[in-house]
Amino acid sequence: MNTTRALAVLAIGASLVAGACSSSSKPAATGSTTTVGSSASSSATTTGGGSAGPLSISSFTRDFSAMAQLKSVASAGKGSIGVILPDTVSSARYTEFDAPYLTKAFQQAGLSSSDFKIQNAQGSDPTMLTDAQSDITAGASVLVIDPLDKGVGAQVESYAKQHGVAVIDYDRLTLGGDRSYYVSFDNVKVGNLLGQGLVSCAAAWNVSSPNVIEMKGDPTDNNATLFAQGYDQILNPKFNGGGWTRVAEPAGTWTPSVAQTEFEQAYTAHKNANAALVPNDENAAPIIQYLQSLHIPSKSFPITGQDATLVGLQNILLGYQCGTVYKPIYEEAQAAAALAIYLRAGQTPPSSLVNGQTADTVSNTQVPSVLLNPEWVTTQNMNSTIIADGFVTASQLCTSQYKSACTSAGISG
Ligand code: GAL
Repeated sequence: MNTTRALAVLAIGASLVAGACSSSSKPAATGSTTTVGSSASSSATTTGGGSAGPLSISSFTRDFSAMAQLKSVASAGKGSIGVILPDTVSSARYTEFDAPYLTKAFQQAGLSSSDFKIQNAQGSDPTMLTDAQSDITAGASVLVIDPLDKGVGAQVESYAKQHGVAVIDYDRLTLGGDRSYYVSFDNVKVGNLLGQGLVSCAAAWNVSSPNVIEMKGDPTDNNATLFAQGYDQILNPKFNGGGWTRVAEPAGTWTPSVAQTEFEQAYTAHKNANAALVPNDENAAPIIQYLQSLHIPSKSFPITGQDATLVGLQNILLGYQCGTVYKPIYEEAQAAAALAIYLRAGQTPPSSLVNGQTADTVSNTQVPSVLLNPEWVTTQNMNSTIIADGFVTASQLCTSQYKSACTSAGISG
């Protein structure tokens, strides 16, 4: 491989926390997100087609038009881009959203189909690593990788370093890693939205003394740790004298069937449980099905979610899920693609785009970051966000049993 070539590895995912544990036991080393400076901190204008002003997170709209600004940067680049997403089980997002949006972002920036390749590691670390290595051998100058855990993230990043490759962490921070940039949503804010969503839902559904099963994501995913940090900021004051009780706090997972088992065990042990903080839609779905099998009525057992997936949105419409954290992945994909295109061309991304920094609390470094804003979605704003963005279409969402709920939510299916 031509090691003199400026190579950039876009490490997506990774995670993260060695010896992570629930927030109530020994502190886990976590990345914390501090946003410094505003996104308009620089006058840098892309050298792409047309001077559309400084590229920033607000440039990335649903029509991907901003990517055209990067055409000349893209044409100055060398090599191809290899995309390796983590799995198809933990969240539908990687198949439904990340893969198609990354494809569109590259294409709109003028890259041809031979300039990039998108694969899914299907939950296998060895597959992730071998895919990364073979992509680089085949001439990839940028790798877009969403590792399942800290181990493979670190392996990819050290392999990248050995080959003179710069790395971007996407969506998940590789704690103890070695990368140039990090692109994600503010994941503590994601957690805040989950916590606030549960609180407002409990009030709306008249759950006066919530006895909460606090679920978590996979402890090897630093995002899961940051999500919990965020919702504990909201819930702990409720648990400490606010009339709420945390009845159970299972270990955490991103495998929906494991989440269901964790919930069932907790619910069996704590029959007074009447609410659950669930960190994403895919984990919430089997839990909701279980409660439905027990004939728990709608709008009686508050449950949260994340990723605005079809299943989550439909559960919200039927009143079994309070809401979902909506992360416009078309923004995240465009931001990642833009950073990768700059690095592939040996150019420094504009500081107007790099709007923050994030502490890697293992390597004790501050990582230049592109941090995007998440949003809480319920039936109240589903039409003006998800549907307006075309993230999920009304025809996908408002099938037979959801039609009337769509109408009530102002969604014309
Ligand atoms: C997180 C990601 C979330 C969620 C979860 C399961 O790291 O940020 O969007 O999908 O993984 O894949």
